[in-house]
Amino acid sequence: MGKPLRLGIAGLGTVGASVVRIVRSNLSTLTLRAGRPVTITAVSARDRKRDRGVDLGGFAWYDDPVAMVADPNVDVVIELIGGASGAAETLVRAALAAGKPVITANKALLARHGVELARLAEAAGVGIGFEAAVAGGIPVIKTLKESLAGNTVTGIVGILNGTCNYILTRMEKEQLSFATCLAEAQRLGYAEADPTFDVGGFDTAHKLAILTSLAFGTEIDADAIYVEGITSISLDDIKAADELGYRIKLLGVARRTDTGIEARVNPAMVPKKSVVAQTSGVLNAVAFDGDALGEVVLVGPGAGGNATASSVIADIVDQARGHLTPVFGLPVVELMPYQKAEIQAHKGGYYVRLSVYDRPGAFAGIAKSMADRDISLESIVQHRRALDGEEALGHTGAPQPVVLITYATRETEIRAALDAIEAAGHIAEKPTLIRIESL
Ligand SMILES: NC(=O)c1ccc[n+]([C@@H]2O[C@H](COP(=O)([O-])OP(=O)(O)OC[C@H]3O[C@@H](n4cnc5c(N)ncnc54)[C@H](OP(=O)(O)O)[C@@H]3O)[C@@H](O)[C@H]2O)c1
Repeated sequence: MGKPLRLGIAGLGTVGASVVRIVRSNLSTLTLRAGRPVTITAVSARDRKRDRGVDLGGFAWYDDPVAMVADPNVDVVIELIGGASGAAETLVRAALAAGKPVITANKALLARHGVELARLAEAAGVGIGFEAAVAGGIPVIKTLKESLAGNTVTGIVGILNGTCNYILTRMEKEQLSFATCLAEAQRLGYAEADPTFDVGGFDTAHKLAILTSLAFGTEIDADAIYVEGITSISLDDIKAADELGYRIKLLGVARRTDTGIEARVNPAMVPKKSVVAQTSGVLNAVAFDGDALGEVVLVGPGAGGNATASSVIADIVDQARGHLTPVFGLPVVELMPYQKAEIQAHKGGYYVRLSVYDRPGAFAGIAKSMADRDISLESIVQHRRALDGEEALGHTGAPQPVVLITYATRETEIRAALDAIEAAGHIAEKPTLIRIESL
């Protein structure tokens, strides 16, 4: 049995406390799997007195996580503080500067500073493990970096945020509004008091940025990702999707295209029969397309203390075994600059919900605006509002909901058609546009 691998854990919140609990209770199995004893020697958090429901006896305590790096009894620094800057960033930089490997669950940090940190890790000859940073407990990083090494990955589609998936699932299952489901998610602890990061799509974008780099061998560029959240999804859209054989999911999608990498986060219509559509509640799903393998889909818990700790511990075992791979799958000099395909170049089907004035010529005008841009319609659904008396016999002039499904077209074309429809005064509100993902 080799010499013990000694861990210093900074951050003892949801994930950190679970890591401590699992390492403590599985010591003998971990030792066998790691090929050497694994032991926690030091920990750091802000509040020393807080009861974290785990036994911290025997560990050196540090109020300052950076001071923990210099502890000669710490071989590996595990950063579970969170945040793209501040204590987490300072800690990781200090660990790499000291030549100590890092394990982190911090997608925000990697999405912002990943390439630079990878460069520092390479210079120091150490690794950065981050299995827990994307899709919590689902082993997506190892799958992309190692298991799919024989493939050219052509696409990634993922449900990467459990909060949004929970909200959309409840909206559909219980026919509730977005606001009601968000409040319920907050009550159950699935959503933060300020939910913007989740429901605005930004958390998904951070995770997608990391996956994109691994899949396509590029530098990370989180700002190049087009982001739309779920705040404008209405129950009307959820119902219409259901009638048309779709479910609405917040997806992170990245694909190679002729003009570059199209990476976007947006609510999307996905066919109900797909695995992604059937991924409900707080679960995550990630689908990879590889030229040799075809499609593989991984589904599981994308968050939670134990699930995320499971991924952190996988990195600990790799570290104990001396399994060192380039941080983003390739040496940093081999990573290609990120070449972005603009969202306007996206080609696909669209769901369009319009509030059309019930006037003579409105439909003909809408159809012409579409035809002028070579947009073919796969279906048109109109639910006329119930009217009584004479109104029901003719045009009322009142807005009526109309849903259009288009065949594949360019985003520039559909946007131009909708601008023309709006300019012609046929609709009472801004149109709702949702991309269709043919999985
Ligand atoms: N929670 C999940 O389900 C999940 C899933 C995947 C990835 N992650 C990632 O895992 C990381 C940790 O998340 P979490 O949910 O465990 O967070 P959390 O519950 O908020 O815990 C954060 C911990 O960091 C400590 N901390 C904050 N500032 C510090 C500082 N300056 N010095 C030392 N310690 C400091 C806090 O100390 P006190 O306890 O004393 O305040 C707390 O123990 C984040 O990067 C997150 O994105 C989380």
